[in-house]
Amino acid sequence: MKNENLFDVSKKIVFITGASSGIGQSAATCLAKNGAKVVGIARREDKLKHWCETCEGETSYYLADVSKRKNIKNIVLDIIDKEGEPDILVNAAGINTREHADDVTLEGWDKTLDLNLSTPFFMAQSVIEGMKKKNWGRIINYASLASRRALPSSISYGASKGGIEQLTRAMAEAWSKYGINTNAIAPGFFPTELTVPVFNDTERTKRNAQQTCIGRNGKLEDLDGPLLFLCSRSSDYVTGQLLFVDGGFTAK
Ligand SMILES: NC(=O)c1ccc[n+]([C@@H]2O[C@H](COP(=O)([O-])OP(=O)(O)OC[C@H]3O[C@@H](n4cnc5c(N)ncnc54)[C@H](OP(=O)(O)O)[C@@H]3O)[C@@H](O)[C@H]2O)c1
Repeated sequence: MKNENLFDVSKKIVFITGASSGIGQSAATCLAKNGAKVVGIARREDKLKHWCETCEGETSYYLADVSKRKNIKNIVLDIIDKEGEPDILVNAAGINTREHADDVTLEGWDKTLDLNLSTPFFMAQSVIEGMKKKNWGRIINYASLASRRALPSSISYGASKGGIEQLTRAMAEAWSKYGINTNAIAPGFFPTELTVPVFNDTERTKRNAQQTCIGRNGKLEDLDGPLLFLCSRSSDYVTGQLLFVDGGFTAK
């Protein structure tokens, strides 16, 4: 097998939630630059518009709040109508309400579990028929250090990310026989809107870097290679897995 086409994603149609910022936007940019046709999904039009106008490659955006599972099917059907059936679904939208266990509210719990855990499943269920017809597909979820570690004031976030780890296996069990592989990327600490409170704490930022084997926190481009691997035929025999991209944080 020649190396050069192993990571090819050109002409693939990608739906990606969370494309207005952080890891989702970086992933959307990486896939578009590598020739995929990328549809970014989020709520903030100014951010998505700016991304579309400045990103190299074929991009478009769709404004949607994907946190309400009863709306997801219709949102996805509308995007399919405009853009075609996706080959790749990237579930990058996520929140951390950072409530301490003693103070978790019903609203905070539901918001977190809805967006971080229910939405990836119902997004996937809404695109699966098209992927089955193609007999090929890739679904990428975002897990976290919090899938395996208890982080401070992140109990609902941790529950959602622990859930994502198992959801990823269960999706793989259901759909891999149709050529649709599901995997999750578990990033260490990356500077985004989500982690502003972490990176604003200089001592914590330093401790997090020291906990890695490599000795630094993540840069968004560190996620590009693992993403291309999981989105391309390189990962034809890889499914139901969590790939930690954490500089060795969890190895220590
Ligand atoms: N940053 C890290 O170090 C880190 C580490 C481990 C895992 N992760 C995971 O990686 C994923 C991306 O995180 P990030 O750090 O890039 O966060 P971020 O910069 O805060 O981005 C979150 C994205 O989710 C979108 N979003 C939030 N609520 C939404 C809703 N109701 N409907 C549609 N879109 C919504 C936001 O867009 P709008 O506000 O425009 O809707 C935004 O694009 C998350 O699943 C997160 O848990 C991040």
